[in-house]
Amino acid sequence: MDEAVRISQLRAELHQHNCRYYVLSQPTISDFEFDALLRELQELEARHPELFDPNSPTQRVGSDLNHEFTQVAHVRPMLSLSNTYNKEEVAEFYRRVEEGLQGQPFQICCEMKFDGLSISLHYEHGQLVRAVTRGDGTVGDDVTDNIRTIRSIPLRLPDDAGYPDEFEIRGEVLMPWESFERLNAERESREEALFANPRNAASGTLKSKNSATVASRGLDAYLYYLLGEGISGRGHYENLQQAAQWGFKIGPQMRLVGSLAEIYDYIDYWDEERRHLPVATDGIVLKVNSLTQQQSLGLTAKSPRWAIAYKFQAEQQETILREVTFQVGRTGAVTPVANMDPITLAGTVVRRATLNNEDFIRSFDLHIGDRVQVIKGGEIIPKIVGVNLEARDETLGPCVEFVKCCPECGAQLVRYEGEAAHYCPNELACPPQIKGKIEHFISRKAMNIDSLGPETIDDYFRRGLVRDVADLYDIRVAQIAGANRTRELSARKIVQGIADSVKVPFERVLFALGIRFVGEVAAKALARSFKNIDALAAATLDDLLQINGIGVVIAQSLLRWFADAQNRWLIERLKMAGLQFALSEEELASHSDRLAGQSIVISGVFEQHSRDEYKALIERHGGKNVGSISAKTSFILAGANMGPSKLEKAQKLGIRILTEQDFLAMIE
Ligand code: IVH
Repeated sequence: MDEAVRISQLRAELHQHNCRYYVLSQPTISDFEFDALLRELQELEARHPELFDPNSPTQRVGSDLNHEFTQVAHVRPMLSLSNTYNKEEVAEFYRRVEEGLQGQPFQICCEMKFDGLSISLHYEHGQLVRAVTRGDGTVGDDVTDNIRTIRSIPLRLPDDAGYPDEFEIRGEVLMPWESFERLNAERESREEALFANPRNAASGTLKSKNSATVASRGLDAYLYYLLGEGISGRGHYENLQQAAQWGFKIGPQMRLVGSLAEIYDYIDYWDEERRHLPVATDGIVLKVNSLTQQQSLGLTAKSPRWAIAYKFQAEQQETILREVTFQVGRTGAVTPVANMDPITLAGTVVRRATLNNEDFIRSFDLHIGDRVQVIKGGEIIPKIVGVNLEARDETLGPCVEFVKCCPECGAQLVRYEGEAAHYCPNELACPPQIKGKIEHFISRKAMNIDSLGPETIDDYFRRGLVRDVADLYDIRVAQIAGANRTRELSARKIVQGIADSVKVPFERVLFALGIRFVGEVAAKALARSFKNIDALAAATLDDLLQINGIGVVIAQSLLRWFADAQNRWLIERLKMAGLQFALSEEELASHSDRLAGQSIVISGVFEQHSRDEYKALIERHGGKNVGSISAKTSFILAGANMGPSKLEKAQKLGIRILTEQDFLAMIE
């Protein structure tokens, strides 16, 4: 047989098996047979590079080549849903729909709200041509290569299945619990930071620049919205049933209902039953089914009036409080931590929960041995939300007291006026504060010394090699290469990484110093206004308050920091090490005050510079980039395909719209 014909035959066959396995869960051949067919195709494709097809089943393994994502404007903006948290709000939604439809009968499609990240898939002539993340709803990242590795997303639809030549289908990319747990277990064994939840893991994975990594992570996808001209169904439900026929994976929990009572039943059922689903869900989505009715209900600026999300309450469990320990962070803030009997919450085992601060502990009159109620919301740190007072008996232990002294260095704790937290004031000698400051100093947005990590810092600290950030620049290869210089290579890399950091620009050095309340944005503003550290160190409260974005809290913190002789000595030592403590000539030349005091909204897609470059240009000329249009907006920097709602709002408020050319001329 002609090899070209065999290639196309194998591709079609493998696409089908893929769908049977990953979408329908009904494989008809063994894994072994599947692999044999795939290998045959791989060999044939290797012999025929001219027949390359990015949608071939062989492309699911991804590639090791790194790539940047290009930004793409959405053909139709990707709206989000408004949220409700209780049944009364659901009833209000139902009533609004009834009113909006003026008594017409209607049906509601109930479905799961999948907790991943949304994706828009474009098909032309049955082939996947583009996959774009939601981004800001107007523009997203083109992640097609990564999406191709997700086995449940069809790359090629079966011929003649009746789909339109062009359509878009949206859905959620998810990391199933099983893949999530496997991934975190692997990361733990490599001492890498864990993902807080499957959503973060899915989004981190999909943004990976290496599609082979994506392929290895076991992502999945459920589709929930079909759009485009030539879609024949009259209702959302029918459309998705159609899409299922074409090979898309649709949430099998979808139901059509005709009353509020049925919606409540659906909610109650799935609030419990969702624990058994293979993927994370965080609510229920309710959608008016008829497309005509959807149209007549219309949209608000952010979300459709024909749909709403009902969010599940975070899962709650009761367990016993055994001990309270205290953790000291980089800033010296002391956080009380509850250590409890293990419970399973939202799929993970929980033993510790934050108790926030002293007032929080007092508000519960917390005792060791108490039965406490714990929830885990979207974030990694679980929270105590209540105490079961009725369960108290004579076995109850002592009342929980907040420590008076730092558990790490013994210094007496202080509580600043108006703040709920306790602090260890021993900034310069308390180990977690020192280590925390060094970790902050080397972090990506600060000095970006990626040859060092928390474990190495901990090791150097214990060995007495580093006591502050300036010590890093004195480290020599011989000190860290190990006995017999077995780690010479990595030691050289570390020392080189530290040496390279002296080129990091002034504004980031200023941020890296870790002065309380001086974040990235404040550091930038300060660097640009004072231009060098000596001018900043000499600034008075009034001088500081002149600067856009610097308020009393930041200003006072700066004054306190520079008043300390040890800090001034630190700066001198860092200067001797060669760090940048002034803006470079180049930076001085490329900055101006031309946009000072102006709030600028960026919208649409640009040709001459990327969005990020425009943001940087605005900042470099003293302007402020803001997200949404208001009466305070000075002007809009608009590229192609500016969102229609933004345009309407700008016109209504009479705000100027500048093209990229106008803008570039303005700052020239
Ligand atoms: S429909 C215009 N259906 O929830 C309606 N969204 O806050 C578009 N989501 O960005 C969304 N499951 O990422 C829809 N069954 C579902 C969903 C769902 C999860 C996500 C989606 C969206 C967010 C809305």
